[in-house]
Amino acid sequence: MILPEITTVVNDFSSISITHSTLLLWFEENSRDLPWRRTRNPYHILVSEIMLQQTQVDRVLPKYLAFLEQFPTIEDLAKAPTGDVIRAWAGLGYNRRAVNLQRAARTVLEEHSGVFPRDVAALRALPGIGPYTAGAVACFAFEQDVAFMDTNIRRVIQRLFVGPEEQGIAGEARLLQIAERAVPVGQGWVWNQAIMELGALICTASSPSCWRCPLHRECRAYNTRRVTDEQMFDGELTVKPQTRPRRVAERREAPFTGSNRFYRGRIVDALRNATANDGLSLDELGRRIKDEYDQSDSEWLLTLVNALAKDGLITFDGLAVRLPA
Ligand code: ADE
Repeated sequence: MILPEITTVVNDFSSISITHSTLLLWFEENSRDLPWRRTRNPYHILVSEIMLQQTQVDRVLPKYLAFLEQFPTIEDLAKAPTGDVIRAWAGLGYNRRAVNLQRAARTVLEEHSGVFPRDVAALRALPGIGPYTAGAVACFAFEQDVAFMDTNIRRVIQRLFVGPEEQGIAGEARLLQIAERAVPVGQGWVWNQAIMELGALICTASSPSCWRCPLHRECRAYNTRRVTDEQMFDGELTVKPQTRPRRVAERREAPFTGSNRFYRGRIVDALRNATANDGLSLDELGRRIKDEYDQSDSEWLLTLVNALAKDGLITFDGLAVRLPA
């Protein structure tokens, strides 16, 4: 597969500057008013980015506001009992994110005197913070002109600068290189927000709305497909709806109900709902999370409990299972 030379795409100054101005104008007129776009507080940005990683914007919105009301500053989060942070995470799923978020807050307090590090490398050194989150905080809190990848950004960069996915997906390093060159100087914040917004609202995974995309004239995927279709239909100016090749992981997705992740979630939910924090005995916990729980399940349950304890999500002293104090 031959990928287009990036120098011919992004270094084409006239074309990239049209892409910049068109997308930024579209963003100004069409973006959603989201609370994490109104702040540059790095702690608030970090909370939003961790929540948004595996959860939809609509579900995150009320949780984000409630979380910051309960833990308004990074000190409040660092000093809170971990169990309270896990309780505040109810409804978001992937509870490990809550524990990691608090670990990051504690590290900022203990190792950076409570002052958030600004550069990507120092942000990456915080526990639970990967390349995406480090880039997002550097950009959205500190307005640095950096590039980073999540699924939306990856898809938009691929289509805009490389071409349709079905003709070959560029590797991560290459996409990141393209994304870095595409950031307009001094406008990283709004550019990255706009790319994300385009991916969320227009350039979606399975049914992109190319007909109302502000960038279709500049878009490699759109233009490649248009040319192909014109050839196929002998001059007809239509663009077939894009069908996305499903990823292998999607096709073979294991059932969630009954999986270990499902029961891990149920254990944390059962402990959230247990009155006070006296905890539950292993057997009582088993009965609350699994229909027809019996003694033959106790070894399985103990394995799950030990794994959750290792991740810092619960404690188990041999008698009672609890959320961490
Ligand atoms: N997902 C992750 N970061 C986001 C942001 N800043 N705006 C909208 N969706 C996002």
